[in-house]
Amino acid sequence: MKDRAMNESAVFALFGNPVAQSLSPLMHGAAFAQMGFKATYSAYQVNDAADVVHMIREREIRGASITIPFKETVMGFLDDVDKSASAIGAVNTIVNRDGRLKGYNTDGPGLIHDLAEWIAIRGKSFVILGAGGAARAAVLALIQAGGTPVVINRTVEKARALAESFGCRWGPPAEIGRLEADCLINTTPVGMFPETDRTPMETKFLVHFPCVMDMIYNPVKTRLLRDAEAAGCVIRSGVGMFVHQGAEQIRLWTEMEPPREFMRRTVLERLEKNGGD
Ligand code: ATR
Repeated sequence: MKDRAMNESAVFALFGNPVAQSLSPLMHGAAFAQMGFKATYSAYQVNDAADVVHMIREREIRGASITIPFKETVMGFLDDVDKSASAIGAVNTIVNRDGRLKGYNTDGPGLIHDLAEWIAIRGKSFVILGAGGAARAAVLALIQAGGTPVVINRTVEKARALAESFGCRWGPPAEIGRLEADCLINTTPVGMFPETDRTPMETKFLVHFPCVMDMIYNPVKTRLLRDAEAAGCVIRSGVGMFVHQGAEQIRLWTEMEPPREFMRRTVLERLEKNGGD
């Protein structure tokens, strides 16, 4: 990165399609302001992954968040990809170091940070619902943290492929009733706003899981979490993971520790105020 005049703002951005619903601009903007770090963070809706890299270079963007649908496709345009992101097959963060673009994935570290505030991971068992990018990040991070995940997914081939690449167990949805684990984690979008009446899991089996986490953060309390609470489970929303994955991005971009609690309050306030989107 070129030396910047002291009064020049560092430029950060979110790339995806769509991006209008994202809470990242609100959260990162609040974090930078609270840190006294002079920065802008803007959201760009783009049409293909090549545009992401082109804009980062052209506008001298120092760091970027990458969201759907470019997390996988952008990897081919980067100079370097971190080992974990490469194993996951998805990048949600880009760091621009003097024009050299490197991709990272902060979903796994974000999840572990959040879970560690809540439950023990080492020696514990986890059922992961879903087998997409978020599930891959979760499985890798849980194994690295000493947990034992089992993957359950609608498309069994994807569950099998994920499990085989990380060496864990997997199963079809029909197996969920026969499983017990310390914690269930939903990584699917089922139950996300506006389809808030949906759940990825039959309620009667929730008693097999003392702790239930949903990666969805809008709504803060999904139908899965409401059902789990009614079944006596301890519940955790996706807000904490969202905050920590964003905080890990700021650490990668600035090498400074962001105000995580302040970020959480900012996000929660907005979600509670809007109640929907
Ligand atoms: P992300 O990057 O957020 O993980 P993704 O890669 O699109 O998103 O993965 C979404 C996961 O949610 C997939 O495992 C998907 O199941 P399939 O592999 O069968 O497609 C799962 N998912 C999405 N909608 C679902 C639904 N209605 N019921 C069950 N699983 C669903």
